[in-house]
Amino acid sequence: MGPHWINVGRVEEIPPLGARLIDSGQGQIAVFKAGDGSLFALHNGCPHRQGPLSEGLVSGHTVTCPLHNWVIDLASGEARAPDNGCTPTVPLKVVDGTILLHLPDPRAVVSG
Ligand code: FES
Repeated sequence: MGPHWINVGRVEEIPPLGARLIDSGQGQIAVFKAGDGSLFALHNGCPHRQGPLSEGLVSGHTVTCPLHNWVIDLASGEARAPDNGCTPTVPLKVVDGTILLHLPDPRAVVSG
């Protein structure tokens, strides 16, 4: 089976500046909501040492890793200079208030 758009919940279920974790079947995906309501999906691992980005502090369109404070751009997954690295991002769209992620494994489930 090819990639699928997977329903991972409603927009209003994620608080502003919050994140929800999705078990993609290939590792955890963190879905973030910025303070302006923008949504982003990234793998839940910092490019430095795989810190849990879902537990980081969201500011603007960035998240600060809780382990060593690298700042990751939510849209691109790129670490802000002087740090160097990139977390894979996941395509996301909203249809009628439902968040859909483009994932390779259609068995993805919401884990919290
Ligand atoms: S693991 Fe994220 S800054 Fe070190």
